[in-house]
Amino acid sequence: MNLFYLEEVSSTNQYAKDNIDKLDDKTIVYTYNQTNGRGRLNRKWSFTGEDNIYASIILKPSTEMKEVYSNLTQYLCVILCEMFEEYGVSANIKWPNDIKINNKKISGILAEGCINNGKLQGLVLGFGINLNTKIEILSKIDQPATSLNIETGREIDKKIFLKKLSDKFCLRYDNFIEEGFQLIRKDYIRRANFLNKEATVKIFDKEISGIAADITKNGALKLIDKNNQEHVLLIGDIL
Ligand code: BTN
Repeated sequence: MNLFYLEEVSSTNQYAKDNIDKLDDKTIVYTYNQTNGRGRLNRKWSFTGEDNIYASIILKPSTEMKEVYSNLTQYLCVILCEMFEEYGVSANIKWPNDIKINNKKISGILAEGCINNGKLQGLVLGFGINLNTKIEILSKIDQPATSLNIETGREIDKKIFLKKLSDKFCLRYDNFIEEGFQLIRKDYIRRANFLNKEATVKIFDKEISGIAADITKNGALKLIDKNNQEHVLLIGDIL
């Protein structure tokens, strides 16, 4: 993996999209100073200090879209959980790709595709990780949030973390593209603590509630509503 450092940038995802032609497959563009980070569902990703990571992985697996690409955020979720576990902290996934520790968000992922004339130019997998955020900054975030330094009680070396993460991402990436979500399904489910509980999923402006019963072999969420009707959801967010 190539690591490409930017001193300051509005959004690593935007930078990656604007420069997609020039960036090689398997490059991580990263900064410690992101001034206008974007989140999912038109939300913002706050700047939480220079000791955290704001990064985007650029991937160019093929010029046509494949179903497995939409599971890449789930692949990254599992990799991030494994990383946190290496630091002695157990993390959970909220479908499809939020990572939480004790119900507090520690990392978020935003995937974007670059398509030109019907051809896929590249995928941009953006992620922000709270590695060394001060408690007073976390308390200003609009949802419960935590940081790895708080969970472990020690400062985290951001360069070492990013290098380990990029190596781990590469390890199973080619197999994942080949085999799809099934390769990581068990690893994903092991951390999916929303399963077998009541959940409400927001899909655009619609909401569906029910029991989160399973994650299918394609990474979709199987929800059973109060009328015993099954919903297999490929997009949406658990609220
Ligand atoms: C979310 O949980 O809403 C997703 C947040 C994704 C934030 C990262 S930070 C680096 C990259 N650049 C952006 O503008 N956003 C992503």
